[in-house]
Amino acid sequence: MEKEVLSIVDKRNGSTYEVPIHHGTIRAMDLRQIKTGPDDFGLMTYDPAFMNTASCKSAITFIDGDKGILRYRGYPIEQLAEKCSFLEVAYLVLFGELPSDPQLKEWVGAITHHTMLHETTKHFLEGFRYDAHPMGMLVSTVAALSTVYPDARNIHDPQVRKLQIMRLIGKMPTIAAYTYRHSLGLPYVYPDNDFSYSENFMNMLWKMTEPKYAANPVLARALDILFILHADHEQNCSANVMRSVGSSHADPFLSTAAAAAALSGPLHGGANEEVLKMLDQIGSKDKIPAYIAKVKAGEFKLMGFGHRIYKNYDPRASVIKWAADKVFEVTGRNPKLDIALELERIALEDDYFVKRKLYPNVDFYSGIIYQAMGFKPEIFTVLFAIPRTAGWLAQWQELLEDGEQKIARPRQVYTGYEARDFVPMEKRGVPAATATP
Ligand code: SDX
Repeated sequence: MEKEVLSIVDKRNGSTYEVPIHHGTIRAMDLRQIKTGPDDFGLMTYDPAFMNTASCKSAITFIDGDKGILRYRGYPIEQLAEKCSFLEVAYLVLFGELPSDPQLKEWVGAITHHTMLHETTKHFLEGFRYDAHPMGMLVSTVAALSTVYPDARNIHDPQVRKLQIMRLIGKMPTIAAYTYRHSLGLPYVYPDNDFSYSENFMNMLWKMTEPKYAANPVLARALDILFILHADHEQNCSANVMRSVGSSHADPFLSTAAAAAALSGPLHGGANEEVLKMLDQIGSKDKIPAYIAKVKAGEFKLMGFGHRIYKNYDPRASVIKWAADKVFEVTGRNPKLDIALELERIALEDDYFVKRKLYPNVDFYSGIIYQAMGFKPEIFTVLFAIPRTAGWLAQWQELLEDGEQKIARPRQVYTGYEARDFVPMEKRGVPAATATP
């Protein structure tokens, strides 16, 4: 094979350069040698939204957007969703290998014993209005936990990192459930160590006066599968935030809170809530063509459709559709599914979407299942944040262990004023033409 080298000719002065190619990339820093003179800073790349920039090397998740492939540590998502529990997958994502039976038992035991929240957390939550959005409460509470665990700042100690990872994975469902109970004015339900991760979450959400909550096993399994599907997704917006904040050596609670804040946006994890609002707005199948026409006119986006990486069907959406059938056998069919299926059918035949390679993504169907399971749309993104905490922490850990990584500090293309002198108050606001020097 030809040498993995890029030859560059700078037509400004005829200079030529040879830049090595590694993993299908060139190092941006190798462009800095391309100058027109000694005072020239050298070339940079300009890449708004990092459309074509690899920010790191990672061994956690592989996505092939054209083929619709998603693998955690090499294992296809379809196999993991069928054969594993979420905590088993969280272990894989975090530590790189599927756990042995003793390892899994120890891991599940450790997470189970980190589900309790410091009682002071209730006071954080009581500061929120009854109608506060659960994501705002979750982000704030996770950040506040950094004050409960000041030892988390010692990020260079692997044992300290592992303890914070267990705390965050163990406590996210408890925080999520507490925000939900707060919004309903219901007393908090403490974790019950007899339950699995997903059953315990359901227990903390929905236990009322019964002595022991009984989770429907089909729904608990479906929730576990949904958690597996949402565990990680390489360098998505919120993972990028986790790495960026983590690169300043902030503690993992504050880094996770920042990542969850990024996830809350409607273009990212907030889309699952927006999909339900969209389906409610459409109302019935006969209204779909008119709605699609507005999307094509650019009035708004079709929520739950499109993806930066997937230019084929999001493999998670396929598994979610399978899980939906299992859930609906228990809960009854969510009528919104019929609108969603018709919307997908019409969109996938329409050239606007086909040309732009817009397919349903993970958020298109997840909300429909969540709603059928009894979750309110406001908590849907919280349901995304719970499992994604494992992915964020895996990305965070990988960042800290990568000798090439430093504090994230991009450059810019400056388009502002050149140097100019101060303007005293009396001369401000006076149109330049009439201003007296
Ligand atoms: C997640 O990155 C990840 O991995 C994220 C995620 C994860 O697991 O972490 O997979 C989770 O965030 C899934 C995405 C959830 N968001 C949505 O469903 C919101 C709707 N989707 C869009 O906003 C959009 O598709 C994005 C944000 C997901 C991706 O946007 P890109 O890659 O920046 O693409 P773009 O906005 O440049 O769109 C390219 C073209 C544009 O049209 P033209 O300007 O070329 O004419 O496609 C159009 C866009 O207008 N387009 C859409 C559309 N998405 C893109 N048109 C209508 N409806 C849409 N949903």
